[in-house]
Amino acid sequence: MPHQLLNGKELSQVLKDEIKAEVAELTAYGGRQPHLAAILVGEDGASQTYVNHKMKACEYVGFRSTLFRRDASISQEELIALVKKCNNDAELDGFIVQLPLPKHIDADTVIHAISPEKDVDGFTPINIGSMVLGLPAYLPATPAGIMEILGRYNIETSGKKCVVLGRSNIVGRPISVMLSGKGNPGNATVTVCHSRTPKEDIIKYCREADIIVVALGKPEFLTGDMVREGVVIIDVGTTRVDAPDRKRGWRLVGDVHFESVAPKASYITPVPGGVGPMTVTILIKNTLEAYRRKI
Ligand code: GUN
Repeated sequence: MPHQLLNGKELSQVLKDEIKAEVAELTAYGGRQPHLAAILVGEDGASQTYVNHKMKACEYVGFRSTLFRRDASISQEELIALVKKCNNDAELDGFIVQLPLPKHIDADTVIHAISPEKDVDGFTPINIGSMVLGLPAYLPATPAGIMEILGRYNIETSGKKCVVLGRSNIVGRPISVMLSGKGNPGNATVTVCHSRTPKEDIIKYCREADIIVVALGKPEFLTGDMVREGVVIIDVGTTRVDAPDRKRGWRLVGDVHFESVAPKASYITPVPGGVGPMTVTILIKNTLEAYRRKI
């Protein structure tokens, strides 16, 4: 079966252009620009790239952006003090703390210090809890981006068997809640597999699945023999693996073995250019919403 690529890069461009037009209208008569800040701790290469993408997207849509770079040796107290400064900064609509954080810092404690009104990543207990209850909330960007892809490509989820591989707080768990919630996309029957699910069970669930979301961080984990014909594949994996033939020395590999899975899929997200760009754009969308709530 010929598969169709779910082009997150193209879709995120469409969304960014919609937002850019809205921002132009909102600021046409000297209005304040929406303003997003990012806190980046340490030198992790992937995190630096993600934050760069976020700051560039701000510039593209006409937002103001601020980057707080801090050394990996920053103490938890100092980092929380910076979070509180952002909470109290009236010129800031929203901000994020890029994850992962260095080992000596408890990420939960830092995240929980973010004021829910400025938590445009949707990571705080108030936003996660509101999402679970179906109340208005800032939705975490990666799962919300997946929902946007499914919606814009008119992929039926109601009554479908969805398998989520991974139970992280930022992808697996929230996407399982969103897919099983009321709405369109939504209303799916969701199975969550994780590190304690026996491999033979993972294979069994995947072979029956209509839609599989893979968010494990294990390069090329899902292979063609594990899926059925016509499956919809969402690949959230972005692992950098050595590639001496590339100028930068690495390439990005998803959690899906594309060559064997794609021929059986009806729709599949590529890596790169699938879920990744959507994450950035949803963050921008959430920030615009935070701005609108303030004006
Ligand atoms: N690290 C990986 N994904 C994300 C994300 O969506 N937001 C933040 N803050 N950190 C991340």
